[in-house]
This record gives sequence, C-alpha cells and structure tokens, in this order.
Amino acid sequence: MTDSLTTADGAPAAPAGCPAHAGAVELNSLQFQQKTAELYRELRRVHGAVAPVALDGGVPAWLVLGYREVHYVTSNDQLFARDSRRWHAWDSIPADWPLLPYVGYQPSVLFTEGPEHRRRSGAISDALGAVDQFELQTVCERIADTLIDAFVGSGEADLMADYAHQLPLLAIVRMCGLPDSEVDDLVHDLTVSLDAGEGDDPVAAYQRVQDRIQRLVEAKHRRPGPDVPSRLLAHSAGLTDEQIVQDLISVIAAAQQPTANWIGNTLRLMLTDERFSVTLSGGRRSVGQALNEVLWEDTPTQNFIGRWAAQDTELAGRRIRRGDLLVLGLAAANTDPQVRPDAAAGAAGNQAHLSFSHGEHQCPYPAPELAEVIAKAAVEVLLDRLPDVVVAVDAESLVWRPSIWMRGLESLPVEFTPGPALRG
Ligand code: HEM
Repeated sequence: MTDSLTTADGAPAAPAGCPAHAGAVELNSLQFQQKTAELYRELRRVHGAVAPVALDGGVPAWLVLGYREVHYVTSNDQLFARDSRRWHAWDSIPADWPLLPYVGYQPSVLFTEGPEHRRRSGAISDALGAVDQFELQTVCERIADTLIDAFVGSGEADLMADYAHQLPLLAIVRMCGLPDSEVDDLVHDLTVSLDAGEGDDPVAAYQRVQDRIQRLVEAKHRRPGPDVPSRLLAHSAGLTDEQIVQDLISVIAAAQQPTANWIGNTLRLMLTDERFSVTLSGGRRSVGQALNEVLWEDTPTQNFIGRWAAQDTELAGRRIRRGDLLVLGLAAANTDPQVRPDAAAGAAGNQAHLSFSHGEHQCPYPAPELAEVIAKAAVEVLLDRLPDVVVAVDAESLVWRPSIWMRGLESLPVEFTPGPALRG
C-alpha cells in the first residue's frame, strides 16, 4: 500500500509553500475507506503519530494518529481549540466545500469554548441525564418492532437504510417531545440535511429542520413536557431560545449518524464473524461484546474535524502553526500499537477507547450511555425477530461509504425466513 501514499492523480495536495504537506494523502477517497486500518498503519509508519493529510479539494490538515497525541490534544482545549473561525485557511475554502456544513462555524455548543462551552454543554448533560433509560429502551424496542414489521414479510432488507439509519433518529426526536404528527417530516428533512441523495436540497431541508425545532421550542414554552427541550428551557444556565434551537439540532445531528453506524457496524460484525454467529441464538451477552469490539475496531466516528491550534506549538515532533487544522484520528488512535501492542488479543472488557473523544468537547455524559441503550435495543430486537438472518452477499463485497468522518456501510443486504408483523 506504500505507493498509495501519494496524492490522488499525482496532483500536489498542498498549497505551494507548505513543505510539511508535500505528498499529503487524500483521505476521503473510496479506495482508502475500504482499507482504513491499512491506511492508518501505513501513515503511522511513514509519518509517525501526526501525519500531513489533504481533505476534500486538497485542503491541508494534520491527522493525529497516536492515542497519546489525541489524548493530549483533546485534553488541552486552550491550545487546541474548537472554534473553527481560528482557521487560517478560510480564504481558500470554496463556498461549496463538501465539509463546510460541519466545519463552518455555527453558534452552537459544538464551536463554543471555555466557560460558555461549559455552560451550554452542562445544560445538555443535565437535560439528557433526566432521560429515563429504561423507558428509552422500551421506546427503542417498540420503534425496532415497527421498522422490522415493514420488511419482515418480504424475507429481505437493507439493514442500513431500512433499520440502522432510522432507529436512532426516531428515538432522539421522541426524546425531544416532538408531536407524533410531525415526526415523519422532521426525520425526512434531517435525513436529507445530513446525508443528501441525488436531487435532494440539503440546505432547504436544513432550513425546514431549523423552523420546525424553533416551533417546537415555542410550543414547549407554552406547554412544557418531560422532554429535552423543556429541560433546556427551564435550566439555570439561562439559555436563549436561539441557543436552545442550535443546541437541539447539534444534539440530534451528533446522535444520528454515529449511533446508526454503531448499530450497522455491530450487525455486520455479528452476522459475518463466526465468533459471534455461533452464539447468536443465546446471544444477549455477546451483543454487548460486539458493541464494544466495534468501538475499538470499526468506530463510527473514525475521524473528527477538528481542533485549531490557538498558537504555534509542537506535536510529536511536528511544528504546528497557529490556526492549523488538526483532525482527531479516533479510529487510528484506538488501534495505536503503542497502547495496543497485541491488537489480535481483542479489547474484551476494556473501554479506554477514544471513540467518544476526550476532554472538554467529548461526547457529553450521558450521551454515550443513551447511545448504547439505543444501539443495544436495536441489535437485540433484530436478532430476536429474525433468528435465521444472514448477509445476502459475500461479506468481502460490502462497501464502506466514502466519508472521512464516519465509518459505516453503504448498505447491509440481508435475507431471512419471512414472518408476520407484530403490530397491525
Ligand atoms: C444518543 C446519542 C448521542 C448524543 C445525544 C450525542 C451528543 C453529542 C454532542 C451534543 C456532542 C458535542 C459535544 C461538544 O462539542 O461539547 C457530541 C460529540 C461527540 N460525540 Fe456524541 N452523541 C451521541 C452518540 C455518539 C456515538 C454513538 C458516538 C461514537 C461512538 C459519538 C461520538 C462523539 C464524538 C467523537 C464527539 C466529538 C467530540 C469532540 O469534539 O472531541 N457520539 N456528541
């Protein structure tokens, strides 16, 4: 794979005058997404713990591959900060840059720093902390049954489109107390805004999401309920409506894709790896093991963009300039041989992975717990309902989506014996 460490089409990936980025590798190509473990291993071999890479359009960045280095960067939020307006490269970023929606500054919790971040993130933690996890599990099991009912009679399904992508979104909008009559439209618009297909207009869809969440917050002012928006409104942090709208959209978007891919990657593992298939029928315990193994080996948020250097500094022997962009290589860090010299031994009960990141901006407590409740219910109900489910294609031919952020399958086609729907 050595010769793949050149730029796509041999084109220079870095702007002139940036020697550190000469030969930087384009990260998002489909080719690399099929073999990310090899890519990270090779980058580490050639460049060490911090590698020069090119994002879409040849935009230069540093990929932080080492476990200790990701830990260091995320622990030092004053030196490696989160507000993307710190980037020195904005002048060269085109208006239609594909990564703009989630890298461009928005006045949400994601891009705030210091005490303002703690205020907003603390309110989110408190609002999520009041979610009853047993009730959430029941809600997720019901959603899972309804989704399975829609395809159980046909004997085949694509578990990504028909199941994994839908379930977390339905769970999270219910946590937000959205009226049932609005759930379908919001789920549709969110899906288009996060993951637009051909002919979709993600910007218009995003605007409709914003309008709907705005109306939801207004409605919760008049009639509070046992839901996340009402708790944010009542919180002592004293957030404005505009902040709450922004942060609710961030919570929903931050939950959807990673949890969907956590479900998808776990189902793939359990259905293609015989260590799990032999225990499927009595497999409740192995679901927990598979969920944890995925966080180490195929973590959903494989890279996170990012952090921006607040001043000139050094990292793993690299000179980092103020305003440089650092991409957190969470998947690479999880498989760093410095901390996992014997990766083949497996992760077992160890949960010291960086899949939920670390430090000030890590996935806020108790979001990882809620995500696990959702993912576990999704996997368990599916295996209970479709006991003879098998992947319908050769496991080697499953395609990973070409995304720098997410590690998730394009589709997961399965077959099973058709059965009856549970709900009329
Ligand atoms: C119920 C499901 C979830 C919710 C509500 C949620 C919520 C959030 C929120 C609000 C943030 C922004 C934190 C901040 O900037 O202060 C965040 C960040 C993050 N979340 Fe989650 N999340 C969920 C599931 C997941 C899952 C399943 C994963 C991966 C396994 C994940 C990985 C991350 C990562 C890597 C970050 C970035 C942290 C950083 O900037 O360092 N999340 N999440």
